Amino acid sequence: MLLFEKPSLRTRVSLETAAAQLGGHSIYLETQMTHLGKGESLADMAKVLSSYADFIAARMFDQSQLVEIADNSSVPVINALTDLEHPTQALADVYTILQHHGRIKDLKIAYLGNVANNTANSLMLTAAKLGAEIALVGPVKDYPPNSLYFNKAREYSKVFAYDSLEEGLEDADILYTDTYLGMPALVQSKEDAARRELEIEKRNKIFLPYQLNSKAMSMAAKTALAMHCLPAHRGVEITDDVLDGPRCIAWEQAANRLLLNKAILLYLSEVDKV
Ligand code: CP
Ligand code: NVA
Repeated sequence: MLLFEKPSLRTRVSLETAAAQLGGHSIYLETQMTHLGKGESLADMAKVLSSYADFIAARMFDQSQLVEIADNSSVPVINALTDLEHPTQALADVYTILQHHGRIKDLKIAYLGNVANNTANSLMLTAAKLGAEIALVGPVKDYPPNSLYFNKAREYSKVFAYDSLEEGLEDADILYTDTYLGMPALVQSKEDAARRELEIEKRNKIFLPYQLNSKAMSMAAKTALAMHCLPAHRGVEITDDVLDGPRCIAWEQAANRLLLNKAILLYLSEVDKV
């Protein structure tokens, strides 16, 4: 059962395809199509949905909503992205790095841009647990890393934040970026839309110096690879020449979402039996 409050291409299609290839099937439900917020609570929905499905994958705005679903579900709940985390992406990311470098341990992974976003949080935690050095490179005085994930990741490995591109990208094996804007609410009032436009203008000025472009690539190791979880905003957080270039592995990352989502479903089927 997929319960999504936000749009998705990769996560939805790879999870649904994973279920089908493993002999199951999936039902995709947008929260707007349900009674949520119109009289039925998320907790009650989770109780009912988990009585029909073997797994729930939920993509919600707030992490607390995902926790509420998990607390009230009798089946495993997969975090398909929240404001704080994107763990299924991080698993595909480290697997893709492993395919290219043969290891994660002691690689230097630099994340450029909004180092406090969901993708950065999950990547730093996952890659640090596997022994990679993490460099969070962005306007960290104004947009610092999320202290919860930063401090947790530091228990496992070297994790540093830099506002200097030269320092942060030096000898990096991986340069990773993602949008510096989160997904907007699907239905916005005129006031909210105007506020978002102002926020985009403000962030463009602050984050564009941290764009993943050929200059940034030249500051890293000669063999450095570029990564992006997609969707990419071409010409914004990443340039066309890097995204379409020979050192970009974003397309493999996207393809690996299917493999890793199958692994997640198989793993959860087994642990559920224990
Ligand atoms: N990377 C990722 O999660 O993409 P979608 O938003 O398309 O699922
Ligand atoms: N980090 C971005 C994209 C993730 C697929 C977001 O949450 O909107």
